[in-house]
Amino acid sequence: MARAGTHIVGLDIGTTKVCVLIAEPRSGGTIDIIGHGSAPSRGMRKGVVVNLDSCVASIKQAVEEAELVAGCTADRAFVGVAGAHVRGLNSRGVVAVSGRDHEVTRDDVQRVLASARAVNIPPDREIFHVLPQEFMVDDQEGIHDPAGMSGSKLQANVHIVTASVTAAQNLVNSVNRAGVEVEEIVLEQLAAAEAVLTPDEKEMGVALIDIGAGTTDLVIFERGAIRHIAALPAGGENVTNDIAVGLRTPIPEAERIKKKHGCALAGLVGEEDTVEVPTVGGRKPRVLSRTLLCEIIQPRVEEIFALIAEEFARSAFDRSLHAGVVLTGGGSMLEGIQEVAERTLNVPVRRGAPAGLGGLAEAAATPQHSTAVGLALYGARRRAEAPARVPHPFVLSRMGDMVKGWLSELF
Ligand SMILES: Nc1ncnc2c1ncn2[C@@H]1O[C@H](COP(=O)(O)OP(=O)(O)OP(=O)(O)O)[C@@H](O)[C@H]1O
Ligand SMILES: [Mg+2]
Repeated sequence: MARAGTHIVGLDIGTTKVCVLIAEPRSGGTIDIIGHGSAPSRGMRKGVVVNLDSCVASIKQAVEEAELVAGCTADRAFVGVAGAHVRGLNSRGVVAVSGRDHEVTRDDVQRVLASARAVNIPPDREIFHVLPQEFMVDDQEGIHDPAGMSGSKLQANVHIVTASVTAAQNLVNSVNRAGVEVEEIVLEQLAAAEAVLTPDEKEMGVALIDIGAGTTDLVIFERGAIRHIAALPAGGENVTNDIAVGLRTPIPEAERIKKKHGCALAGLVGEEDTVEVPTVGGRKPRVLSRTLLCEIIQPRVEEIFALIAEEFARSAFDRSLHAGVVLTGGGSMLEGIQEVAERTLNVPVRRGAPAGLGGLAEAAATPQHSTAVGLALYGARRRAEAPARVPHPFVLSRMGDMVKGWLSELF
C-alpha cells in the first residue's frame, strides 16, 4: 500500500468510537476526505485510557478500515486529547523591545511568548498548546501580529493548555502501539472548532459545546481566540443510563430507544405518542407513553446545561457570547436539546456539523465527526504554515520544542 505522503490523518479516540479520517489538503484551507474508519471504542473512559490493549485494538481496527478506503497507509496522525485532565489558563508575558530602532522583531515575539509561558505548572502536568490571544505594543491593544510595529514594550496574552503527563503518555503509547506515529497532540475543542465554527462567530464571542458519550467539552472563543476551556464529566451515556434504570431495560435497548424516540423536552412530544420497551428476562415488551421517556431524559439534559451555565459564569465570559452557543458531538443529535439549551443558557443555540468538505464528505458530515474532521483541518493548516516542519515521533519531553509552532496557532 502507498505511504500517506501529503495526506493528513485525524484520529479521534472517543468514549464510544475511535474515528480515523484520511484527508487530502485542498487550496483555500479545505480538505477532501479520501478515507474513513470507525470502530467501537474499548479501553477509554472520559478521555483517559483505562485499558491499553483494548484501546490499541480499537485504534488498529479503525485505522485499517480507513487505510483500505483510502488505499494508502496512515502512518502518522494528529491525535485529539480531551477530558478532565486537560486544563486551560490565561497568562500574560512582557518584554522590552530589543532592537535599537524599537521595531518589534520575530525574535521579540518569541521572547514575549516564552515569558507568557513561564508559569508554574505542577510536575505531573505538561504544556501542549500556547495559544496567543492578542499582543500589546506600549499602550496599543488588540494587535494580532506585532512584528514590524514600533514601541518599547511588548506584551502578549495567551491561553495555555496543559494535560496530565501520564494520561497524555498513555494516549501516545496506545497510538504508537497501533503502528501510528503521533504528529501532534491537539486539544479536541480546538479541533472541533475548526470544523464547525465560523471566523465571525469566534470574533463575536461563541461557546462550542461538544456533547460526547462520557464527557461534555466546552470552549469559549472571543475576539478570535480561545479564552476558556472545560470538560464536564457527563454526556449522552448518562442519559442512556437514566433511561435504562427508569424503564428497567438493558443499556443497549435504552441507547436504541434514546436515539429513536428520545426527546429532551417533554413539551415537544404528542400526548398520544408511545414507545415499545423490551424488558429483561424474556417477558413481553411494554408499551409506554413517550412523554414518560422524555420526563426521564429532560432533567439530566437540564442538569448538563446547568453545569455549563455555571462554567460560563466561572469563565467570566458569560456576557460575551454574542454569537451564542453551538452544539456538536453525538449527544447534540437528541431531539429538543437545542430548545433546552436555549432556555437554560439564555442565548441563541444552533447545531454544528462539519460542512464544506470534498471527497467522501457524506461520511464525515455528522456532529459525531466534528473532532476528527477538525483534526484533519488543523493538520492541513499546520502543514500549510510550516511545510518544512519535519514531523517527529511525539515524545512528551519534547513538548517544549513546540515554541516554533506558537505563532502559527493564531495566524
Ligand atoms: N440520534 C441520536 N440521538 C441522541 N443521542 C445520540 C444520537 N446519536 C448519538 N447519540 C449519542 O451521542 C453519544 C456519542 O457521541 P460521540 O460519538 O460524539 O461521543 P464520543 O466522541 O465517543 O465520546 P467522548 O467525546 O465523550 O469521548 C452517545 O452517548 C450516543 O448515545
Ligand atoms: Mg468525542
